[in-house]
Amino acid sequence: MPRSHHEDDLLNEARKVLPGGGFGNLSFDIVIREGKAARVWDDSGNEYVDFLLGSGPMFLGHAHPEVTAAAVAQMAKGTTFFANNAEGIKLARVIVDAVACAEQVRFVSSGTEADAYAMRLARAFRKREKIMKFEGGYHGMSDWSLLSLAPRQPGNFPQASRDSAGIPRSVAADMLIAPFNDAEAATALIRAHADELAGVIVEPFQRLIPPAPGFLQALRDVTRECGVPLIFDEVVTGFRFAWGGAAEFYGVTPDICTLGKIIGGGFPLAAVAGRADIMKHFDKALVGADDFLPMIGTLSGNPVAAAAGLASLKVLSQPGVYEKVAATGRTLMEGMTKIVAEKGLPAQVIGVPVLFDVVYTKEEIRDYRSTAKADTAMQGRINARLREGGVLKGDTKFYVSVAHTGADVAHTLEAFRKAVMAE
Ligand SMILES: Cc1ncc(COP(=O)(O)O)c(C=O)c1O
Repeated sequence: MPRSHHEDDLLNEARKVLPGGGFGNLSFDIVIREGKAARVWDDSGNEYVDFLLGSGPMFLGHAHPEVTAAAVAQMAKGTTFFANNAEGIKLARVIVDAVACAEQVRFVSSGTEADAYAMRLARAFRKREKIMKFEGGYHGMSDWSLLSLAPRQPGNFPQASRDSAGIPRSVAADMLIAPFNDAEAATALIRAHADELAGVIVEPFQRLIPPAPGFLQALRDVTRECGVPLIFDEVVTGFRFAWGGAAEFYGVTPDICTLGKIIGGGFPLAAVAGRADIMKHFDKALVGADDFLPMIGTLSGNPVAAAAGLASLKVLSQPGVYEKVAATGRTLMEGMTKIVAEKGLPAQVIGVPVLFDVVYTKEEIRDYRSTAKADTAMQGRINARLREGGVLKGDTKFYVSVAHTGADVAHTLEAFRKAVMAE
């Protein structure tokens, strides 16, 4: 895409004042100026069909009129109070009514925070220290969550690998790692470590990998048998896979879940939700000083974010919305499947209609280790050509929105065809 002097200047400035020239998120070679519905424009004025969706929050598309109006109305009345506010209380009620495990809710500002609190909450409840996560599972950027996110040399389970500089060894000793989608291995590990386990955290749909039939239920059964809280990280899946999130979509209810992205309507807001007898550890009056887990955040439950989240959920609660976005995603998945087959590429489309991507391997994708066998160089080339063709996406995901139209789908499939045929 042609780049203006203005965007060039901004990128040069970014290289001076930001490490690596960016915020740490999408590649640092673009500056996004604005978004409207399913389209975004870069600072040179180039237009893209957007499947990045701000890494997921913009499920309704950018600058949705009802969400914008709700945020603006709240902004005119003040933007933060560090105290209960009506919008946050109403949002908590919607979550409690929609999400099966959510008897109570606490707000934070990011999914990272929500997951870190959820793990601490499980420790406070169980009075044990170790948490099990799954290799390749992403739970934000805390020390614990970054263990075995993307190990370069995967080791033996349940040994954790420290996948970032700066993580203390002692943290790795407190996490146990299990293979995703291997119910037998996970069950055996949970039983073997039941006495020291505080909780098990899992993305019910790990990155792009759906749970194998029975996997989540097996986790549910063994954690219940051992009295270990099961935490679903629904930061991505919450209100996206279904109104009741992945728990509803897959029919398995955890004890605790975390939410983010969609519930903040594009503002910083996330949540921990769960059974009241577990959530009571956030209430000193109920559990006493020794079992109390303080939870303080300057912007927790921010009223602008809560108003935007509430307005988003109101739109999502209208009949037919989930069906519409799923139909859009299905058309894209089917179209891309045909195109890679026509070209004869070793590739497959994985995921669900609201969140999928093409992976360049024929090997069955079940877990982190099988994902790691895909040809990421080919994916990078095709993503770059898609960008040239006016389609913006993250490195490994197509997030589909309610705002994508038939014209967006047609444009995307055409750009994808060109990108693939150039291989
Ligand atoms: C499953 C999952 N958990 C947690 C997070 C972290 O959320 P945040 O980026 O808001 O800290 C993400 C972010 O993409 C995520 O995908």
